[in-house]
Amino acid sequence: MKLNNHINIPELGLGVFQIPNEETAEIVKNGIINGYRLIDTAQIYGNEEGTGQGIKEGLHATNLPREELFITSKLWGSNLSYEETLQNFETSLEKLGLDYLDLYLIHWPGTDYGYQESWKAMEDLYKAGRVKAIGVSNFQKHHLERLFTYAQTLPAVNQIELHPKLAQKSLRHFLEKHNIKTQAWSPLMQGKLLDNEVIQKIAQKHNKSAAQIILRWHLEQGILLNVKSVKVERMRANRDVFDFSLDQEDMLLLDALDENLRVGPDPETFNF
Ligand SMILES: NC(=O)c1ccc[n+]([C@@H]2O[C@H](COP(=O)([O-])OP(=O)(O)OC[C@H]3O[C@@H](n4cnc5c(N)ncnc54)[C@H](OP(=O)(O)O)[C@@H]3O)[C@@H](O)[C@H]2O)c1
Repeated sequence: MKLNNHINIPELGLGVFQIPNEETAEIVKNGIINGYRLIDTAQIYGNEEGTGQGIKEGLHATNLPREELFITSKLWGSNLSYEETLQNFETSLEKLGLDYLDLYLIHWPGTDYGYQESWKAMEDLYKAGRVKAIGVSNFQKHHLERLFTYAQTLPAVNQIELHPKLAQKSLRHFLEKHNIKTQAWSPLMQGKLLDNEVIQKIAQKHNKSAAQIILRWHLEQGILLNVKSVKVERMRANRDVFDFSLDQEDMLLLDALDENLRVGPDPETFNF
């Protein structure tokens, strides 16, 4: 898909949240070998070094150039100064062993709109070509409206918790209106949705797994996503979602599961 600055982004990425640093290299390498081109990490995951090592090994094993990959990391901390933001970015790049990032996100808005300096620093990183696109994560409508009052560069992406139990329709509509791509995190609700009866029935109908049905539900709606698995068979299955589609009846049944139910923190109250 194309972002609002015409950069291409893979629809489906491999997330590495909750993977210990020492295990990450092998998993990222396996992801790349098995066709993943987007890797999603973050400063707070503590595994940027492992991710970097995995990228190096994955590129070596596949003979791909760096440009074929799309690497995302995220800035931790609220009320960071301009300088601290630049420093954190450099530390992430160094740990990843890269000389540019594809996407850099402000990880959480915090509760006091304290991201203005960080956004300015990210805009300057973008202008300097250190990162191909910049964006936010876990931002609600009011967080973005505040950012619009001073931003010179608009976010390309808002990465948010999104799955059939938390469909985020109103926020998605707002993002679409402002030409910001929605990217889902915890698309499988961290595995908690996989034995849902409605999803199981649709899976049987298509001869697919519950996970594949959920990921297809995202893709049908133009939602970008990052899914995590440490297991090669699951990595492969999670990517194998481009040879079928859901019909209107399936989509209505899946849409009806929305309960505004979160598996992660609520951005309105989460502070760090
Ligand atoms: N921006 C943010 O604030 C934020 C927050 C959370 C996550 N994220 C990003 O989003 C990514 C994905 O979210 P997530 O890791 O929280 O959850 P997720 O991708 O919804 O679910 C991952 C869980 O589902 C299991 N799983 C994966 N594929 C499966 C399959 N085909 N069949 C059965 N089980 C399967 C995994 O187990 P195994 O690993 O054992 O296979 C793991 O326990 C993260 O890794 C991270 O990159 C961002």
